[in-house]
Amino acid sequence: AIDISSLRGQSGVITIDPGFKNTGSTKSAITFLDGEKGILRYRGYPIEQLADKSTFLEVAYLLIYGELPQKSEFETFKSQVTNHTLVHEDIKKLLDGFPSTAHPMGVLSSLVTSLTAFYPQSLDPNRSWEEVNLSIIRILAKMPTFAAWSYKNQMGHPVVYPDNKLDYCGNFLKMMFGLPTEEYEVDPVVSRALDKLLILHADHEQNCSASTVRIVGSSQASLYASISAGINALWGPLHGGANTAVIEMLEGIKADGGDTKKWMAKAKDKNDPFRLMGFGHRVYKNFDPRARIIKKAADDVLEKLGVNDPVLDIAKGLEQEALEDQYFVDRKLYPNVDFYSGIIYRALGIPAEMFTVMFALGRLPGWIAQWKEMRENKEPIGRPRQVYVGENERDYVDLAKR
Ligand code: ACO
Repeated sequence: AIDISSLRGQSGVITIDPGFKNTGSTKSAITFLDGEKGILRYRGYPIEQLADKSTFLEVAYLLIYGELPQKSEFETFKSQVTNHTLVHEDIKKLLDGFPSTAHPMGVLSSLVTSLTAFYPQSLDPNRSWEEVNLSIIRILAKMPTFAAWSYKNQMGHPVVYPDNKLDYCGNFLKMMFGLPTEEYEVDPVVSRALDKLLILHADHEQNCSASTVRIVGSSQASLYASISAGINALWGPLHGGANTAVIEMLEGIKADGGDTKKWMAKAKDKNDPFRLMGFGHRVYKNFDPRARIIKKAADDVLEKLGVNDPVLDIAKGLEQEALEDQYFVDRKLYPNVDFYSGIIYRALGIPAEMFTVMFALGRLPGWIAQWKEMRENKEPIGRPRQVYVGENERDYVDLAKR
C-alpha cells in the first residue's frame, strides 16, 4: 500500500495496479477469454473446435489476418511460409558462436533479433504493407528452423536444413531429430500431437509476453525485435518457463518417493517458497480450457505411442488432491495449460530444456497478430506512469565529505 502523503511533486491522478491485474492496456479483436467460465476463443472460434478440426498454420492465418482462409488463400500462405524456411547461411556462424551450454531460449531470441541485420528494411516503420507482410511470413517460416537449431547447438550436433516437402510440424521434427546424413520419417501421431499443442498455445490475449511484444512494438521497433523481446518475456518460470518447471517438479516428487501430500503441504506453507508449478492462472479462476484438452491429448498420445510415464500418475494425483484441498479451492488454483504439456512433449521425445522453445513456436502467431493489431490501431507508445516514493530533493555531497 502506498501512503498518499508520500506522493511528491505529482500532478494528475495515477492508478497504481501492480502486475496490471485490473488494467486494460488495449482494445483487441483477436482473442476472447472468460476466466470465470473457462472460455477461450480465437477470433470468435472456440479453442475446442480449433484444436479438434484445424491445423496450426490455419490458426496462424486466422489470428494474424482475422478470418479463416479460403482454400486458395491458404494454399498461397502455406507455400509462402514453406518457401521461406531456409535462413541466411551466415546465421549459422552466429549459431556456431554460442557454447553448447547456451539455453535454447537465449539462442532463439538472439537468432530472431539477428533477422533485423539480414533484413534491415524491416527497421523502417513506414514500409509498405507488402513488406510488413513479408516480415510476417519470414518469421513464421524461420522460427522452426531457429528452434530446431537452438537444440542442435545444445547437443553439439550438425544442423539439419529445412525440407520443404514436409508440412510445418513435420519439417520442424526432421530438423530437430534428424541427422544431415540420414533419412528421417515423420511419425504422423507425433506430428499431429505437436500441431495440436501449438494451436493451444497460439494466443492468450494480453499476457506477459504479448504485452511485451506490443509495448516494444509501440516504439515502432521492428517485428523481429518485438518478437525477440516476447521470447525473453516468455522465458521466465512464472510464464512459459513453467512447462519446464512442471516436469522438473514432477520428476523431483517421483525421485522423492512420490508422496504428493507432502508437496501439497509445502505449496501451502507460506514460509516455503515452493509453489505447485502448473497450478494457478492470473485470469482463469475456474479452469483452463486448454488444460482439459491437453490432459485428454496426453492420455491419447501416451497410449498411441505406447509410453507409460509414471509422472503422469503423479500429475493426476496432484490434480485430484488440489480439487479437494481448501487452500487450492479458496484461491481458485487449477492446473493450467502447462501442467500436462510437458508430459506430452516428453512422450514426443522433446527434452525439458526445449519445452519453452516449443511454447514460443506455438505463441508466435499470437505475438504477430498482437503486434500487427497494435500498429494498425496506431496505438501510442506504451509508457506507464509511477508513484515516486523516493527521497525529497537533496544536495550533492562531495565524495571526500561523505
Ligand atoms: N502454488 C501454491 N500457491 C499458489 C500458486 C501455486 N502454484 N499460485 C498461486 N498461489 C497462491 C499465492 O500464494 C497466493 O496466496 P495468498 O492469497 O495466500 O497470498 C494466491 O494463490 C494468489 O496468487 P498470486 O501469485 O497473487 O496470483 P497471480 O495471479 O499473481 O499469479 C501465477 C498467477 C503467476 C500463474 C501463479 O499462480 C503461479 O506462480 N503459478 C505457478 C507458475 C505457473 O504455473 N505459471 C504458468 C502460468 S500459465 C502460462 O504462463 C502459460
